[in-house]
Amino acid sequence: MLVLGLESSCDETAAALYENGVVLSSVVRGQVDLHRCYGGVVPEIASRAHLEAIDQVAVQALAEAGRGLAEVAGLAVTQGPGLVGALLVALNFAKGLGFSAGLPVTGVNHVKAHALSPFMVRPGAPPPPEPDFPLVALVVSGGHSHLYLMADHLAFSLLGQTRDDAAGEAFDKTAKLLGLGYPGGRAIEELAARGDPSAYRLPRPLWREGLDFSFSGLKTRVLTIYERENLAGRPADHPARAGLAAGFQAAVVEVLVDKLRIALETTGAKGAVLAGGVAANGALRAAAQAMTQAQGRPLFVPPLAWCADNAAMIAHLGARQLAAGENILDLGAEARPRWPVV
Ligand code: KG4
Ligand code: ZN
Repeated sequence: MLVLGLESSCDETAAALYENGVVLSSVVRGQVDLHRCYGGVVPEIASRAHLEAIDQVAVQALAEAGRGLAEVAGLAVTQGPGLVGALLVALNFAKGLGFSAGLPVTGVNHVKAHALSPFMVRPGAPPPPEPDFPLVALVVSGGHSHLYLMADHLAFSLLGQTRDDAAGEAFDKTAKLLGLGYPGGRAIEELAARGDPSAYRLPRPLWREGLDFSFSGLKTRVLTIYERENLAGRPADHPARAGLAAGFQAAVVEVLVDKLRIALETTGAKGAVLAGGVAANGALRAAAQAMTQAQGRPLFVPPLAWCADNAAMIAHLGARQLAAGENILDLGAEARPRWPVV
């Protein structure tokens, strides 16, 4: 079944063509340049940029796959969670296109789609590993830090979540404090690579206290050290600044991986999933790999390009939903900005 996926939940306008487990094309148009000077995503600017781009990315996804709209059997669109004005763009585009072309439209949960992103493949690549369930999924992005137990591809239960900032939000806010600009995750990772993670003592929030996360106190501690040591006056790549970035990254990674380990042990899950924008972080990938390897459990993690927001993952989950006749939207369907996975 050929599925056109559409995504506009935050600051990426994306479209992808997907068939039988394989991503035929994945077009992502980012908006970083529009939001950078504000230090974060401005919802109104995001919505307008999505409006300008949504038809173009859809046409490009079809062209790159060498397929026509007449061949598409169904549409999959992010229905939530996300910024409401941003969500509405792809949602209304999908509803209009579905209505005019007589195609079913399924509404996809963006976070659930991240969790399933390790199981889709590029053309010509070997088929995706068939996981043994249950799995524990750690989904870490700009808006979410969640631990789920997946009984199968579609059955999720919540094990833990952040009580304040999401992991990616903590990276972005800390990067802003360090004057690294927006978006911050990648910039922190680059600076941290040159720093000593033990240069400063930083807390491990909620260490061994259940499976919830908390990152806002860590960010505040970074600010306190930054001001106390007068790091603003130092060159951008000064060892003290690099040490602070490395210490922050190490604290986040250690907490995330330790909670993932505990979740695996307490649930007896057969393997782990690591997904979402923060899963692009090399230190996190390496630490999660080492931990799961030590446990003799497989780790499923998407390639770097599919960690960040994309429409391939929306089409991937949407294809399952379309086949099952699940969450088929009518023209009255609304965006679900706070849609929980469970
Ligand atoms: O999944 P995503 O593209 O959007 C949301 O659904 O939120 O995730 C974006 C988040 C941002 O907070 C960004 O700073 C973070 O992922 N991120 C990273 C890295 N690359 C992106 N965080 C840490 N290290 C990275 N290399
Ligand atoms: Zn996302």
